[in-house]
Amino acid sequence: MARFTSSMLEQIRLINIATIIEPYVELRSRGRDLWGLCPFHDEKSPSFKVDSEKGFFKCFGCDAKGDGITFIMHRLGFSYQDAVIYLAEKYGINIEYDGEENSHSKDIISLHDEIQKISRKLFYTSAGEEARKYISDRSFNDDDFNEFGIGFLSGDVNYSTVYKMFPKDILYNSGFFKESKYGAPYARFFNRLMLPIKNVTGSIAAFAGRSLDGSNPKYLNSAESSVFHKGYTLFNIDKAKDAMKQSRNALIVEGYFDVMRLYKSGFKNAVAPMGTALTYEQIALLKRYAEEITVIFDGDSAGEKAAFRSLERFAESGLFPKVVFLPQTDDPDSYILNYGIDSFKSLYGKREDLFIHMIKRLALSAKNDFNIKLVRFKSVKDMLAKIENLHMKDYYIEAAADIFGLKKENIQEELAVNRYKKNAVVNKSVNKNLYLCEMDFMACLSHLPVDIVDGLLADMNLEMINNNEIKSILKKILEFLPKISDIKDITHELGEQFVELAMREIAEDSAYDEALKNKRQIELNYLKKRQSELIDLMRTTTDKTAQISILQELNNLTKLIAGKNKDGE
Ligand code: CTP
Ligand code: MN
Repeated sequence: MARFTSSMLEQIRLINIATIIEPYVELRSRGRDLWGLCPFHDEKSPSFKVDSEKGFFKCFGCDAKGDGITFIMHRLGFSYQDAVIYLAEKYGINIEYDGEENSHSKDIISLHDEIQKISRKLFYTSAGEEARKYISDRSFNDDDFNEFGIGFLSGDVNYSTVYKMFPKDILYNSGFFKESKYGAPYARFFNRLMLPIKNVTGSIAAFAGRSLDGSNPKYLNSAESSVFHKGYTLFNIDKAKDAMKQSRNALIVEGYFDVMRLYKSGFKNAVAPMGTALTYEQIALLKRYAEEITVIFDGDSAGEKAAFRSLERFAESGLFPKVVFLPQTDDPDSYILNYGIDSFKSLYGKREDLFIHMIKRLALSAKNDFNIKLVRFKSVKDMLAKIENLHMKDYYIEAAADIFGLKKENIQEELAVNRYKKNAVVNKSVNKNLYLCEMDFMACLSHLPVDIVDGLLADMNLEMINNNEIKSILKKILEFLPKISDIKDITHELGEQFVELAMREIAEDSAYDEALKNKRQIELNYLKKRQSELIDLMRTTTDKTAQISILQELNNLTKLIAGKNKDGE
């Protein structure tokens, strides 16, 4: 059966559910919600609640619940398809069917392809002369222009062909066009050198434009869209991933030009974030392809601070990077231009473990004053506490002990004591009921963009979920995920239980943080369950070798549990 497009369903969701229901039920406001007499069963006092913000209704008497579409289905006896068509016609929404892939995102990508054609064409016209001169003055040539799809957009580009090809919602949702106060689209970029930003598969997800005349901002990116989330994107990942797979190494630099310079100098495995600090998700993406990550920073104190700040994300990701610091005034681009690629290669050859570098710097800054040393050691200890992998933790504890001249056993004990203290507090506060955290997790997911949901579910084992209904909802979400751009698109497929969960009160602006917290709790519960199984097993086992292996697993579990508790602070 053909599916409706995500953008069409989104428009239907934009109709206030109260407007849909009002012709059938008299609604009165009470608090944030609207209440009325349930149309699905006989009642004298209102137990039918409408939550306009979330877009759902629920009757506390007969347990009917759903979104606007469900309401029409129940009330008018329509099928799902008919209810959607009925609402679309009533509210003047275009009826659109989807192909296999999600057409909304596909359309945004085709729109980017059209813009890319225009930008490439203009680059080679007389209008693009300045851009061409600029970039060849920066020592890039025709091959590079082609390799990176470098283009130019002037201030007077005629986008009329694009306007004809795509509906307005695609224009505005693409993050490339803005809407003027007269309701007409206009491009975010003008007079800029244009760089397409591609996703892992090489589709253009967004654009970056560099100003040519020194005007601000120096770089401008497309706004976020269903195909572009800054924190998940890395410039050049499409090309770099193959080089990373081969060398098992990845390079992270700060700028787009740094990536391009490295690429043309033979380091095809370089990527850059979108002008923001590195995220956990970006590191996770790199870990798919590389075993070693090297970050390159300026050698000034700002560079060093930025490097240290990135460490925390790495510690959480379970992979510490190597680092190369460049001379104060250079970035990789200018360094290679100034000193040549061989000089860069020799710096790269001397790359250092960033955490060890940090430990050394901190120890050095204490200038042999023992008290200051202990103060400095605190940040090292905090970082050590974030490491989950026990071998890795041991390795850095040993290094820190050596560099700071402290006893390894004392560091270990200090970490253990701190963990015990924190666990005592954390255990009490987060020891949520098994189902509660699963329900809250689901509720959060229902309010998050699909690619974030994808990220959250990617490394999750559904066996961790105790509630069978939630488990089957999650299974369905995973099945539909590649085809949809919003979970609420499949409200119908997910059923009433999903609506029930989506209506739970959660702090909406921190849905992601809440989801993470609950995910951690789910994992923790799972580990604890296994722990108590093992303890039971231990009681009934008499076989010595079996006992030893149970004890070993228990020991590992205890450490994992302590680690998870630590994360939840
Ligand atoms: N950046 C940004 N917005 C700005 C300035 C910078 O998004 N206003 C991002 C870009 O991704 C840029 C990176 O931060 O590539 C590094 O910025 P910066 O060091 O200032 O620029 P360079 O990469 O050195 O750029 P260029 O060499 O073109 O001057
Ligand atoms: Mn630069």
